[in-house]
Amino acid sequence: MELTREEEEILKGKRGEAAAKALEVIVKVGEALGADRLIPIRHAHVSGVSYGNIGEAGVKFMEDLASRGARFSVPTTVNPIGYDPEYPPEFNVDEHYIRGQSRILRALKAMGAQLTLTCVPYETSAFRSEILPRGSHVAWGESSAVVYANSFLGLRTNREGGPLALLAAIAGRTYYYGLHTDEGRIPRVEYRVEAQRSLDEVEAAILGALIGEQHEGPEPPALHARLEGRLAMRELSASLGTTGPHGMVYVHGLTPEPLPRGWRPEERVEIGREELESRLARLSPPAPGDVDVYFTGCPHMTYDDLRRLASLLKDVERVRGEFIVAIPREAYIRALGDGTASLLYSRGVKLARSTCLIVSPYRVRGLRVVTNSYKAYFYLSRRGAKVYLARLDDMVKMASGAW
Ligand code: F3S
Repeated sequence: MELTREEEEILKGKRGEAAAKALEVIVKVGEALGADRLIPIRHAHVSGVSYGNIGEAGVKFMEDLASRGARFSVPTTVNPIGYDPEYPPEFNVDEHYIRGQSRILRALKAMGAQLTLTCVPYETSAFRSEILPRGSHVAWGESSAVVYANSFLGLRTNREGGPLALLAAIAGRTYYYGLHTDEGRIPRVEYRVEAQRSLDEVEAAILGALIGEQHEGPEPPALHARLEGRLAMRELSASLGTTGPHGMVYVHGLTPEPLPRGWRPEERVEIGREELESRLARLSPPAPGDVDVYFTGCPHMTYDDLRRLASLLKDVERVRGEFIVAIPREAYIRALGDGTASLLYSRGVKLARSTCLIVSPYRVRGLRVVTNSYKAYFYLSRRGAKVYLARLDDMVKMASGAW
């Protein structure tokens, strides 16, 4: 791999032992993949930070880096943790878990992380204040955010594992490979959904799963489909990232970079509306009385969606069963300020800040869960829950007895 003089110097220890080690790993991984150079990054997002996921080994890895003087050299945001810090008991964590999680957060803070604790870093003020120009290179973990960044924000990132995103944040560089390159972002296969209307969040999520399950090859899929809004874009990103290894989908009209002049797909795949509908019918919920938990906010719900949920619940007296919404703490603070949070609380909604049902040890085995997220469906089913899919509006109707 060809390195710049600056990179050679970092490897020799100019920026300290930790930065040298971090860069050494990035170079080794890059060489294994066949990258011929590194690329400076402008931002990093570290995933895999819940104590339940990384355990003692992960804590020690982070503490060791922090104690050796590792510091993030670019703005770095952080994924959700294993419980809501303001109400840990709800998430089935004990003292030992809380101590482990706190040590992770201390180490990340010592390295300079912005403790956003959300999987939608692009919705935080910490990220927005960076004003990254289109085409900026970043190193993000969290597959749903990676797909969203490449597909809808015009950023460039591979799907990094948590540790590699963290090391890239320290080194300030990643390997120039895959979705960082122009050629790595050009689709070969185009999927097309004929529809009279835009796809809502659940249809978009199922579409992402259908593509994720069948798309092959390193090139991102291209997609002709109308999506209803940012919620649908987030759910499509999350399900695509969950069901396959892909880090981007080129959505005509939404992906903010042009394809090369004269580009034509080598292969076209039609996805029939009935295919979406039959998958949705298969996953549709039973009678409302048979539901234990309604879960939304995977990826984390934004402040705007929280307001929408509040307006859907405005005339509802109280929801039946648990209605849990995973949100970034920042959205919570805003919702507290304008009365949205108190309206939701008064209707019986629980706000799960800085965490979610999947990265926390929340007990789901045996529960009947309804969600509008395919990603949540995918992971909660594997944790022993019986999970159904429904759009947010219908979840509210079910939970309020108007179904
Ligand atoms: Fe976010 Fe948890 Fe879903 S981290 S993407 S809400 S699994």
